[in-house]
Amino acid sequence: MDSFTATAARMPTVERRITEAPGTFRMLTGERPTGPLHLGHYFGSIRERVRLQELGVETFVILADYQVITDRDTAANVVRHVREAILDYLAAGLDPQRTTIFTHSAVPSLHQLFVPFLSLVSEAELHRNPTVKAEHAASGRALSALLLTYPVHQAADILFCKGNLVPVGKDNLPHVELTRTIARRFNHRYGPLFPEPEAFVTDTPEIPGLDGRKMSKSYGNAIALGMTEDETAAVIRRTRTDSDRHITYDPEYRPGIAGLLSTAALCSGSTAEMVAKEVGDAGSGALKQLTTDAVNAFLAPHRARRRELATDPSVVSAVLRNGSARANDIADATLREVRSAMGMAYPTD
Ligand code: TRP
Repeated sequence: MDSFTATAARMPTVERRITEAPGTFRMLTGERPTGPLHLGHYFGSIRERVRLQELGVETFVILADYQVITDRDTAANVVRHVREAILDYLAAGLDPQRTTIFTHSAVPSLHQLFVPFLSLVSEAELHRNPTVKAEHAASGRALSALLLTYPVHQAADILFCKGNLVPVGKDNLPHVELTRTIARRFNHRYGPLFPEPEAFVTDTPEIPGLDGRKMSKSYGNAIALGMTEDETAAVIRRTRTDSDRHITYDPEYRPGIAGLLSTAALCSGSTAEMVAKEVGDAGSGALKQLTTDAVNAFLAPHRARRRELATDPSVVSAVLRNGSARANDIADATLREVRSAMGMAYPTD
């Protein structure tokens, strides 16, 4: 059994524990602010965060700005991406009163945890991380020390607040596994301090982009939540289809059509097969129109809230100010505990 299957098998139990005692969980998750959030993020994670928040789980969302430079040279546009992401979070229903939203660069003590954590893992373990390997290969450049070690950095993102529930996609499972290892080794070496966080995966299948590959900004196959209706129509129009007017759901041989069908299905609460039947022999032009209408109708309330929030720049700054104040209080307290556990609490006056 691979680790995704094993984690997925634990989900019903975790779900039951969450419903029974939401207050015993602290959720920490987040993303790299590398571009606009899209439908894949919405169905794969944002919707789930809002659900956990509503269940009464204490929720933290990190915008991992230092993680932007793991596999690229520049953090250009990061401020804009952070701002846009926060607009999407709020429009989707994350409530900054209940969810702490922050960038990790604004929380110095969090990064200080990185140092003792680095001492708890070996270089060989870091080289074995399959996600790091894939990201290194895709980057086409030398393996930077940050790319090699960012999973340890991510353990600090999670453990600074003693997060014990970490919603992630498949790619990030090895990082949660490493976080559990680090927590265990720290506790063993210095005394019990950290929980071993549970990865939380959803059964939403990977969201296909418009070409049938995983929806990703870098593939140019994504529908950003903040696009206008016309921009949405334009990306959908560009999808590569074929000339067979009979529409069928065939991810292997008709990936573009399958991507459109899945997108329309998710946005209208239907299945790809049912949408295919509905379009019948009307051809890919009709499918594109139907998909555009489904996406625009689904996102209309989100986009209206987003536009409204965007009119007042102080909304985003207040979220960041309050989120980072709260994250700093928690990180400072954890760092004090860590240093004291390690015998590094110095008299300072
Ligand atoms: N690595 C995550 C991603 O690929 C982003 C992230 C940073 C994260 N820190 C985290 C996710 C902590 C979960 C928990 O998007």
